[in-house]
Amino acid sequence: MDTQGITLWFTGLSGSGKSTLAQYLTPILLERGCAVEVLDGDEVRENLSKGLGFSKEDRDTNIRRIGYVANLLSRNGVCAITAAISPYRAVRDEIREMTKATFVEVYVEAPLEVVEQRDTKGLYKKARAGIIKNFTGVSDPYEEPETPEVVVNTGDESIEESAERILAYLTERGLLQGS
Ligand code: ADX
Repeated sequence: MDTQGITLWFTGLSGSGKSTLAQYLTPILLERGCAVEVLDGDEVRENLSKGLGFSKEDRDTNIRRIGYVANLLSRNGVCAITAAISPYRAVRDEIREMTKATFVEVYVEAPLEVVEQRDTKGLYKKARAGIIKNFTGVSDPYEEPETPEVVVNTGDESIEESAERILAYLTERGLLQGS
């Protein structure tokens, strides 16, 4: 059976585990017959969105570009996984509307205390010190999804558990062949 395309849209704070989950899921989805592409926030900003900053306008532009590419991929049968903060609900919903393939919003939830404690890139410390302005969760908004298809809580769950819940959702809805 040909697998159908999906846009698997991760949203959540910096350090919540979006990229890690995307990387973890990639070989599993490949194994289950999906072509996979990951559009990772940091990587997109080095290429497709080079030069954009973190104002609302620039973030919206960044997210629209990611959504545009994810749509091209997923309508051609690819499982496009996006891993950008995508802090604004309206733009996420706009992309959901324009996406031809199935759109699955995954809220990668982790309390601010947890991501701040992790501070994998040392950016929260800089944001608290005012060295980085408009940092999501600290000095810039993050609008939680109201009705995401899947919520994973990387503060409480292991990566395996979070991945398992995403895979279960996709399998139950017939979006993925059984393992
Ligand atoms: S988004 O808001 O446009 O979706 P994106 O996911 O591409 O953001 O980039 C977020 C990454 O950029 C963070 O993980 C962090 O490494 C870095 N970054 C640098 N400045 C900021 C900032 N002001 N707010 C959030 N992330 C920032």
